[in-house]
Amino acid sequence: MDKIIIRGTARLSGTVPVSGAKNSALTLLPCALLTDEPLTLRNLPRLADVDGFQHLLNQFGVSTAIAGTRPEDFGRVMTLTATRLTSTVAPYELVRKMRASILVLGPMLARAGEATVSLPGGCAIGNRPIDLHLKVLEALGAEIELAAGYVRARAPDGGLPGGRYSFPVVSVGATENALMAAVLAKGKTTLHNAAREPEIVDLCNLLVAMGAQIEGIGTSDVTIHGVPRLHGATYQVMPDRIEAGSYACAAVITGGEVMLTGARIAEMEATVQALRDAGAHVEPRPGGLFVAADGPIRPVTLSTAPYPGFATDMQAQLMALLTRAEGTSVLTETIFENRYMHVPELNRMGAHIETKGRTAIVHGVPKLTGAEVMATDLRASMSLVIAGLAAEGETQVHRLYHLDRGYERLEEKLALLGADIERVGGD
Ligand code: UD1
Repeated sequence: MDKIIIRGTARLSGTVPVSGAKNSALTLLPCALLTDEPLTLRNLPRLADVDGFQHLLNQFGVSTAIAGTRPEDFGRVMTLTATRLTSTVAPYELVRKMRASILVLGPMLARAGEATVSLPGGCAIGNRPIDLHLKVLEALGAEIELAAGYVRARAPDGGLPGGRYSFPVVSVGATENALMAAVLAKGKTTLHNAAREPEIVDLCNLLVAMGAQIEGIGTSDVTIHGVPRLHGATYQVMPDRIEAGSYACAAVITGGEVMLTGARIAEMEATVQALRDAGAHVEPRPGGLFVAADGPIRPVTLSTAPYPGFATDMQAQLMALLTRAEGTSVLTETIFENRYMHVPELNRMGAHIETKGRTAIVHGVPKLTGAEVMATDLRASMSLVIAGLAAEGETQVHRLYHLDRGYERLEEKLALLGADIERVGGD
């Protein structure tokens, strides 16, 4: 298996193009199931998860074509056509590898009147149940059965009636499934306490471009008036705010600076605030966001929260930055119960972090040292890369498949900034 080798302490400086957002791409792709006309997505990131989702959609009879992008380009253009669905079953082998597969449930049910999807099971960052996905679809009129590790959802003859649901906790995935099911329902659906992450807004904007009628986009109270059919569209995936925030942390921990081309400050306010609290200079500039170290790193206290709060997907990367702060930071993870798997690995690199339940106390240290490390999830892996960039000596990051799921050509982008980083074949 490949590994990344980083020789740390080089000051990063330069420009990085921000790729299309993974978390957006994985909810825009299943929208192809909602229409028999072609859906063209531009700026899709080249990621293992996008390839996996394409493969999953192919299983249902969706044809996919990638248009003439050159290998050296970031992103690509994919046209997906679901003229006729040939299967409505998402099998265990595919769902197990990619949790986001659960996002076919809503659109498939809406289009075909039935969907059978393997239960995804637990995952490295916690239990991650799907009860809310099922409850909201039931509220829209679906009949749900659980058997042999699969969810079988069926709509009454003539389609889902639509309905009303109030989420007891904010769920990004369940809101996405509900939106994709409601757009083709016979009647009106109202969702309360819906997630309002920028990726949800991206999904709503695509659905509207396909002919859906949605009110309250970007708020937690959303009303969807079902329409009999949706049409094709061409749509550009939004920039990845988590990738942008990750490169910002990487630049600042090295005392460097980065121009993040394509990053949109309005979607990253909590991250920008955290970077400023940590002493960084952050400035919107034409075409993107400029982030630079500005003196010592300062400690930060914050909790993760649904948008517009500080994203759970940025917690590990910010923690890596704060390992070098002058003082003690306190981070609290409120979304997932088991999202500190990077902590022991960061400590092996000389960090001083204690965890107590959902809280991590990060005592800043004057230096980190390179080590061989591995992580069991995507953002945790990125936090080790960030620490490696600031560490003295060599850091080897193993299990790159996590990084390849979510960071488009990571080592190339970091090399553009002057990092001493290479990917090599390893064990
Ligand atoms: C979550 C994050 C999202 C992040 C993604 C990948 C939030 C609100 N969501 O989205 O920002 O990009 O992980 O790291 O920050 N839950 C249930 N039952 C369900 C669904 C969820 O109890 O059916 C709980 C989860 O355990 C969690 C919370 O609700 O505590 C939010 O989960 P949810 O937003 O659904 O997770 P993802 O869609 O994976």
